Amino acid sequence: MNFLKTNFAGLNLENPIMTASGCFGFGLEYKDYFDPNELGAVLIKGLTPEQRDGNYGIRIAETPAGMLNSVGLENPGIDYFEKETAPLLEKELKVPVIANINGKILEEYIEIAERAEAIDVIKGIELNISCPNVKDGGMAFGANPDMAAKVTREVRKVTKKPLIVKLSPNVTDIAGIARLVEAEGADALSLINTLLGMSIDINKKKPLLGNIFGGLSGPAVKPVALRMVYQVSNAVSIPLLGMGGISTTEDALEFFMAGASAISVGTGFFQNPLAAVQIKKGLIDYCAENKLSNINEIVAYAHTDDGAAYRKRIFSK
Ligand code: FUM
Repeated sequence: MNFLKTNFAGLNLENPIMTASGCFGFGLEYKDYFDPNELGAVLIKGLTPEQRDGNYGIRIAETPAGMLNSVGLENPGIDYFEKETAPLLEKELKVPVIANINGKILEEYIEIAERAEAIDVIKGIELNISCPNVKDGGMAFGANPDMAAKVTREVRKVTKKPLIVKLSPNVTDIAGIARLVEAEGADALSLINTLLGMSIDINKKKPLLGNIFGGLSGPAVKPVALRMVYQVSNAVSIPLLGMGGISTTEDALEFFMAGASAISVGTGFFQNPLAAVQIKKGLIDYCAENKLSNINEIVAYAHTDDGAAYRKRIFSK
């Protein structure tokens, strides 16, 4: 019995466990801990058309139940990725690679989407309209309903690969933005990206992070992420990749029950590099113990109708 096999946004996956972009490098960095082919798919660090050095100064701060980051989309750029990284991934990974793509302006989003479309090893695209750490692009797109719709529409025109739009939690109506993005052709949604926060260095009496603000992730954000997955799954008819503070099987189960049909481990890797493989085993045991034939049976189970309506909308397409 394959309890975890699933199709997410058109990708056939051995299991619904992925990595959260930015927390797993470019797919091979954790090889000393476990075989990344154990995952359902690998979501790599955000790519931009040009190489980026990222933000100045301190970029990471620990918080009582998580961390703040203000990396600023440091990455080697799509040319380097295509020439140096893609061949390695082609050789080492049997599971789908999903590229997280970013731009400062609409034209850059289109450019990077066209480039990703042409790279074979990239099997899906996560359109990141939610990075809180850059001045141009990122959250500026995701927090504005018209811009979120427009960038999705334009990127949809240039890719046939599964398109997963990554939403920002730093909005008042995430379900409204989710509906607009779905209407423009998104195959799935990722949620949530990090919550905007800050930390103060009390000795210097100044913000700790060089960029002043950063994105909060880890256990602290889990209740917010669950609430948003629940709200969005009640509003759309496409599958959700749930993330935000997942580090145990129990966390993952909560996300499935809220409405996610796949989950990503992010900050959890930093504390426990084996978190994803342990969750995989835990989900298999859960299915066996609860006599489920597939984990999909509990997707959205916390909804008032036990998830029947949402499961019908996403699984009967
Ligand atoms: O700053 C960063 O590189 C983070 C990106 C993101 O949160 O999407």
